[in-house]
Amino acid sequence: MATDQLSTIEFWSQPWEAREPLFAELRRNAPISWHEPPEDVLGVPAVEGDGYWAVVRYDDVRRISRDPRTFCSGQGVLFGDAPPEFLEATQSFLAMDAPRHTKLRGLVSSAFTPRQVRRIEDGIRANARKVVEEAAPAGGGDFVKLVAKRLPLMTISDMIGVPEADRERVVNTADVLVSLLDPEVLGDRVPVELLGEAIFTLHGFASELAAHREQHPGDDLMTALVQAEVDGEKLTHAEIAAFFVLLSVAGNDTTRHTTSHAMRALTTNPDARAYLLEDLEGRMPTAVEEFVRWATPVMTFRRTATRDVELHGTTVEAGQKVVMFYTSANRDEDAFADAHRFDVTRDPNHHVGFGGGGPHYCLGASLARTQLRSIFTELLTLLPDLEAGEPQLFPGGFINGVARMECSFTPRA
Ligand code: HEM
Repeated sequence: MATDQLSTIEFWSQPWEAREPLFAELRRNAPISWHEPPEDVLGVPAVEGDGYWAVVRYDDVRRISRDPRTFCSGQGVLFGDAPPEFLEATQSFLAMDAPRHTKLRGLVSSAFTPRQVRRIEDGIRANARKVVEEAAPAGGGDFVKLVAKRLPLMTISDMIGVPEADRERVVNTADVLVSLLDPEVLGDRVPVELLGEAIFTLHGFASELAAHREQHPGDDLMTALVQAEVDGEKLTHAEIAAFFVLLSVAGNDTTRHTTSHAMRALTTNPDARAYLLEDLEGRMPTAVEEFVRWATPVMTFRRTATRDVELHGTTVEAGQKVVMFYTSANRDEDAFADAHRFDVTRDPNHHVGFGGGGPHYCLGASLARTQLRSIFTELLTLLPDLEAGEPQLFPGGFINGVARMECSFTPRA
């Protein structure tokens, strides 16, 4: 069946333009459709009758996101299956339901409010300038390494309190969790083995940092976590480590890949770049929303039905998996005029790049917006002729990741 392509790695190894016709067809003719489980890479045994419902329309993604009692997260949120130890060690409150989700998210949410992010905005801007100034003499190279990767790494490490000397190692290890299918990352290793090793390293690191902060409190998220109590109990080091992995992955990858995809879009749409350059400060906030819609760095999240429920005349049974395809919802012709056009003037732009609303809506949305505004303001000001080549994508149906992307520009001292 043509639509079962959705579950193959081959399908997800193609660029967005090649995937979109299938989603367009599903949006039109089959807003909800049943599929075989996604191709397994982590050695999770197949269960008879297992599979998932694919939900591809914008309105449905919003409805499901906002009804956590019917569509829960506590039974897993990743498109592909993963061993339970992996989920426990990496997902933290992302894969929990109320009331525990509310309590754990509450422990760190105050650090991510728009008001709090405004307080650290000067630091983010200074770091963005530093990143671009340090890239400027090179005249080109891999944009991901040179620019896109660096600001998110600095920002989230500052917030968590990761010492300077460990940052590169932490982010490279966290990268493994979402780029297992990249042949350059995998080499001749077995995915599940590499994954286990990365988790072990990250947990070891997080536990050391937690132990250090217990003795030497600072003004950072790790200190908040070691001092926090939930229902009168302190978090265990394993819980803190899972928290740490979630923040490291969610805080790094998404913003990085949005930066790369948006840079490519600004290269292929020079008019958009010229338009922004006329009033960077005034036009950037609107443009950033289009960057996120266009990139949709998180392409899917899953829910599980807690009761029988009807969607477009189809009964989703209690216990069945429902996958929301943000990558399709953000191109839904019924939600966005000229949905396939990169339009930095699009306003309003109620994309679902940060999720469709509800209790799991991206905690880092304000932080991501601020970083994107800052890095593009510096890039367009200091390196106005930067051109990005064709992105080399990570295969897989979760993160729309750019592994490498060559770029060139007039070098500056
Ligand atoms: C452009 C950048 C980003 C995008 C597109 C993005 C996207 C998303 C999406 C789609 C979700 C799930 C929403 C849902 O299930 O309803 C999410 C959740 C989350 N994001 Fe982001 N994110 C970005 C940046 C960040 C940053 C910078 C952080 C900082 C730490 C972050 C932290 C989180 C966390 C902790 C969650 C889980 C929230 C929960 O389960 O309650 N994200 N993000």
